[in-house]
Amino acid sequence: MSPSFQLTRAVAPDSTYAALRRDVLAGLTHSPKTLPPKWFYDAVGSELFTRITELPSYYPTAAERACLAAHSTEIASATGARTLVELGSGSLSTKSRHLLDALPDLHTYIPVDVSESALTLTGQALSTERPQLSVHALIADFTADFTLPVSVGPRLVAFLGSTIGNLLPVERTAFLSGVRDLLDPGDALLLGTDLVKDESVLVAAYDDPTTSLFNKNVLAVVNRELGADFDTDAFDHVALWNPNSEWVEMRLRSRTDQTVKIPELDLTVHFTEGEDLRTEISAKFRRDGVRTELAAAGLDLTHWWTDPQARFALSLSVAR
Ligand SMILES: C[S@@+](CC[C@H](N)C(=O)[O-])C[C@H]1O[C@@H](n2cnc3c(N)ncnc32)[C@H](O)[C@@H]1O
Repeated sequence: MSPSFQLTRAVAPDSTYAALRRDVLAGLTHSPKTLPPKWFYDAVGSELFTRITELPSYYPTAAERACLAAHSTEIASATGARTLVELGSGSLSTKSRHLLDALPDLHTYIPVDVSESALTLTGQALSTERPQLSVHALIADFTADFTLPVSVGPRLVAFLGSTIGNLLPVERTAFLSGVRDLLDPGDALLLGTDLVKDESVLVAAYDDPTTSLFNKNVLAVVNRELGADFDTDAFDHVALWNPNSEWVEMRLRSRTDQTVKIPELDLTVHFTEGEDLRTEISAKFRRDGVRTELAAAGLDLTHWWTDPQARFALSLSVAR
């Protein structure tokens, strides 16, 4: 890898393990049972997510890519960014490449993700594609406090893929205010948000065999890390639209009455037949709601672009 690539762990490995223990204990003793989506993304989960983004039914990636292809030059001239920070970057995507290509004065790229494997792949790709670019990857949890490496302004923080929709509304408020704290006045946030649309289109994006494998991967992670004995075949993948909250939910539905042991937590969890474990929400957005949430965090919406079919929006906002 090129000397211009650095990988920094902003969370101690044992704090990741402690956070997993905390989340599994809280989520599986809660009614209804839940697990946070960040635990999908070990190397297998990150690879499965990349496969999901290539499925025709998973329109958000193609729609957001179309927005970026059409508007990256405008984003570059509106922000003049010299540092691009990408939260939840995953492995280097065509979407990120559109931004990297468009920013003429870019000095530093800071991809931030919980997935070390995805960040390593990004480093490998960029060291051959863009050896002049300084790349400082951070293994960090974007819902927790972390500091960015020293970098030149202006800064543009990108949060793509509608990953913000995986946060509960109260978590979104805290997250956006944390992003504002990373920025100086005049720095910008580029946010990708999937839009409310026909239920059948929304559910189809989360209801296929690859997404089922991705969903069940969280059980494999808990088995490996905490010694649990989840039988992934004893759960069905479920995707449904919650019209009141305007989000898609992914769940794992227990096929039978069953008991799961998690020795590392000294915990036994009972599932009744048909009981659901919620593993992810994917909130869908409307323009007014996005503007209001950004404004509450001290970010003023300046641009709003959608793909030609108005399925997905990219917004640019500037820190007050
Ligand atoms: C839905 S994927 C989106 C990936 C990519 N940005 C895209 O648009 O295709 C979410 C990404 O965020 C990362 N992620 C999820 N929760 C995270 C967290 N709490 N902190 C840091 N990264 C997280 C995952 O590892 C994954 O790469």
